[in-house]
Amino acid sequence: MIYIRSEEEIKKIAESNRINYQALMMLKDYIKPGISTKQLDNLAEDYIRSMDAEPAFKGYKGYPATICASINSEIVHGIPSKDRVLKDGDIISIDVGVKKDQYYGDAAYTYTVGEVNGEIQKLLDTTQQSLYKGIKKAVAGNNLSDIGHAVQSHVESNGFSVVRDLVGHGIGRKLHEDPEVPNFGEPGRGPKLKKGMCLAIEPMVNVGDFTIKTLDDKWTVVTQDGSLSAHFEHTVTITDNGPLILADKKIEVN
Ligand code: MF3
Ligand code: CO
Repeated sequence: MIYIRSEEEIKKIAESNRINYQALMMLKDYIKPGISTKQLDNLAEDYIRSMDAEPAFKGYKGYPATICASINSEIVHGIPSKDRVLKDGDIISIDVGVKKDQYYGDAAYTYTVGEVNGEIQKLLDTTQQSLYKGIKKAVAGNNLSDIGHAVQSHVESNGFSVVRDLVGHGIGRKLHEDPEVPNFGEPGRGPKLKKGMCLAIEPMVNVGDFTIKTLDDKWTVVTQDGSLSAHFEHTVTITDNGPLILADKKIEVN
């Protein structure tokens, strides 16, 4: 069942997301060659706890950390480690979740480390743009699949592929709620979107094929063909005036 959240609830979801997005933006300054993903994890956890909130991923289905830190061909759910040290030319996707006052926030961002080449920058730009194209369709009266269709169209017209096996989700009193929000598909399908729904929209985009595999650590999801992958995520709520991105500042949906 897809929940319609009250204004009171949306305020709480917004507060969790504000802290969450601030954690992601704070990390930007630290993402340099030489830092380990474990150090980034500690920074995020300390920040979230300093805001009287809890890391939402830690302990979720046994996940051991605050952030997921996925480097290069890792798509999502990379486990932070002191032995994973960033180097010039890498990309790193960081996904983080916050729980405060019983409500959740979820967001992800892919960062460049030092200098990256133009093709890599195009992957990141296209993935982020596809997120905003999807968000733009999160409008009352549209169908759910209009979001994924917009994401997929943008990604594929730029020559990349969109991961099928992992999807976005409703969010609120749980990290993952109905509905699933795929990043692909025909338009005009699925439930009608309504004011008060809260969705985490999160395209994962590969340079090569869209197929994935999970490593022996049972968490890290990588591209099957070893190509690079990027991931951007926002939590949005549907209002009378269209989609509202829940983050630390007002982000225009263009
Ligand atoms: N952020 C992921 C999502 O959006 C969830 C990560 S779950 C964890 O679905 F267990 F890996 F933390
Ligand atoms: Co999510």
